[in-house]
Amino acid sequence: MRGIIKHFPGAKALDGVDLQIRAGEVHCLLGQNGAGKSTLIKVLSGAHQPTKGEILWKGEEVTIPTTMAALRLGISTMYQELDVVDGLSVAENIFLGHELSSGGVLRRGTALERTRDLLRRLGHPEIPAQREVGRLPAAGKQIVSMARALSHDAQLIIMDEPSAVLDPEEVENLFRVVRALRDQGVAVVYISHRLEEIRRIGDRITVLKDGRTVATSLEVEDTPTRELISLMTGHEVISDFGGTAVGPTSDQPLLEVDGLSIEGVFDPVSFEVSPGEVVGLAGLVGAGRSEILETIYGARRATAGEVRVKGKKLRRGSIADAVSHGVGLAPEERKSQGLLLDEPIYRNITLSTFARFARSGLLNERAERAAAREQAEALHLSPADVQRNIRTLSGGNQQKAMLARWLVHGCEVLLLDEPTRGVDVGARAEIYGLVRELSRQGTAVLMVSSEIEEVLGLADRVLVVADGRVVHTGASKDMDEHQVLDLVMEGAHR
Ligand SMILES: Nc1ncnc2c1ncn2[C@@H]1O[C@H](COP(=O)(O)OP(=O)(O)OP(=O)(O)O)[C@@H](O)[C@H]1O
Ligand SMILES: [Mg+2]
Repeated sequence: MRGIIKHFPGAKALDGVDLQIRAGEVHCLLGQNGAGKSTLIKVLSGAHQPTKGEILWKGEEVTIPTTMAALRLGISTMYQELDVVDGLSVAENIFLGHELSSGGVLRRGTALERTRDLLRRLGHPEIPAQREVGRLPAAGKQIVSMARALSHDAQLIIMDEPSAVLDPEEVENLFRVVRALRDQGVAVVYISHRLEEIRRIGDRITVLKDGRTVATSLEVEDTPTRELISLMTGHEVISDFGGTAVGPTSDQPLLEVDGLSIEGVFDPVSFEVSPGEVVGLAGLVGAGRSEILETIYGARRATAGEVRVKGKKLRRGSIADAVSHGVGLAPEERKSQGLLLDEPIYRNITLSTFARFARSGLLNERAERAAAREQAEALHLSPADVQRNIRTLSGGNQQKAMLARWLVHGCEVLLLDEPTRGVDVGARAEIYGLVRELSRQGTAVLMVSSEIEEVLGLADRVLVVADGRVVHTGASKDMDEHQVLDLVMEGAHR
């Protein structure tokens, strides 16, 4: 790709980008939220047309007017936003519109067989090929999207933050697949904000900043992480999880979870979170961590047990009741669970506080925007113009908007599901700082993260969840990463 420029109405997403990819390499694309990574790969995959610039494929200049055209060339893409269709089965998602479907009819037998084969390659033989995708958890959907990208036997496979929804075990599976592809001579473009992943899987790196290439084709081995961070951000960022945990500011628990369970989903769990305390749930995807959060929030109805906030029992299965008692949830799948994609940024931020701006039937949009703007600035949301549609924000910035919502709301119990998913190093440090600040103000935080390092760094106490059960509870200062990983694996395979 040479001199790629891409303008959107009101935004210059790419401003002259060069990228050269070789067969048989894993080429990593790095850059902060909004740097232009997704836009660049969408130009390559035919989803966007460049305003200017040229693309050469095997030495010949090409135009890639559609995603089908890209597939025909041999370029297959896994997008950052999960783009699977909930109402279709796993096999249909993978093979509809595929060479296997002629005249709109899917050759079922073949498709099912190939689907099972792909799922096996990805380490997930247990996902039923005929299951409706809507019934799979976020990680399952990601696996389906991966299987679809692999199904085309492409020569170039683009992966935009594939690991964001994966747990450590699944990342290993993914890496095995990526290495196998590379060894077969396939080129892989890999995007991730997790620098340790880049070190492990990448061969060469291109760094984008503000829509420009700041460094290209760096050899991973010759480039220290420190240098990568300063290339991306323009300065050095130290991520120390915002210092040590604040710890409980009172011994009176704020959140009490007492024998809470959903039959067949997770076994009874009991724990407390005090004001100022951060409690982390560690475990594999599918262990039941998100379900526990969602049940506390009332998005799922418990079949046993209860949740109390400041001693007051919450009504089962009522989000309204939870919110009115000061409980907020930033969910893991922001697109389907949290954001109103056709609304402006400010409306998304003020969503749970809406009533405050709508007195006597009149909506005070100005106050609403001002409140949103304040939080957007605090989180360095980019672009800071809160009137823009949330859809036009980069993935990491959408995540920040989601957090801003609960900051405006000022909730006392904050449930965070994968709070730094898809967030760059700089913003990550800001979010950690924010959690610390909320703790100081007496907020009780319950968080889920697939990054064990993050759980240990941020939480005072850690509950290890495996297969719907809490298998271990302890102070994070007494645990290390290997120990937690062992507990997680042991619990999962018991
Ligand atoms: N459809 C669109 N309309 C207007 N602006 C857009 C659109 N899509 C992207 N942008 C803007 O282009 C810039 C680059 O966005 P892009 O999604 O490529 O970033 P990214 O590097 O992938 O970030 P992240 O790490 O957060 O995913 C951002 O400023 C974004 O707001
Ligand atoms: Mg992106």
